[in-house]
Amino acid sequence: MVRQHVNPLSRIHQLARPLPPLIELFADPSLPLNLDIGSARGRFLLAMAPLAPQRNHLGLEIRRTLVEAAEDDRRRQGLSNLRFLYGNANVNLPEWLALLPAGQLELVTLQFPDPWFKLRHRKRRVLQPALLLAIAAALAPGRRLFLQSDVEALIAPMRQLVEASGAFEAAGPEECGPEVNPLPVATEREGQVLAGGLPVHRSLYRRNTAPLPPLADLEAQLEPTASGTDNRLDAEAD
Ligand SMILES: C[S@@+](CC[C@H](N)C(=O)[O-])C[C@H]1O[C@@H](n2cnc3c(N)ncnc32)[C@H](O)[C@@H]1O
Repeated sequence: MVRQHVNPLSRIHQLARPLPPLIELFADPSLPLNLDIGSARGRFLLAMAPLAPQRNHLGLEIRRTLVEAAEDDRRRQGLSNLRFLYGNANVNLPEWLALLPAGQLELVTLQFPDPWFKLRHRKRRVLQPALLLAIAAALAPGRRLFLQSDVEALIAPMRQLVEASGAFEAAGPEECGPEVNPLPVATEREGQVLAGGLPVHRSLYRRNTAPLPPLADLEAQLEPTASGTDNRLDAEAD
């Protein structure tokens, strides 16, 4: 198999690398913030930022060359409400999210994350319990988390994790579903999937007022013992 994505567990991507504070990133750091995790070449946020100028937009991406190319485009477009940063969401985001001013994070998007199919590779998947709790802690009640994937067997454990946290309410089908994207711009991957006539699986969640469960309790709920889907994929993908 040709490896198309990086292993986020490799040592180089595990280095503590504090992300800069908002004041070093944006012309007006007080604006509400949209965060896109796994922003790749950046085309989604490069289109979103001019559409939503009263928001700051931050893309976090583990492949440095993509970040550099996206930043070049951002500078060319003269967008001061957009930045792309290199980092590993699982390593670098939780601490940074914890330092955000209360109520500033408006929307977190996690769209078409790398498809680590095998059960034994599940720790490489980006939406891990600790990251989900860090996102939930940073989102005020009513603020949104948006997930998309073209692989139903991979969005299923993400949904399971979000729902097991008890911290979110799912939006109804009129607001988000296979035919309804609540956001006005498609990502790169989404465009390819739709052009191929394939389905897109989407979930939109709003933070509720529930307290967050301890990490260990959430992890214990998600032990992969009954994950028949994962086992099937394990056998299929190599
Ligand atoms: C399949 S691509 C999808 C990109 C984009 N969101 C889209 O929908 O077109 C997933 C992206 O997430 C990035 N990524 C994977 N793991 C990551 C991590 N732990 N932290 C930050 N980015 C990550 C990958 O390098 C890749 O660019």
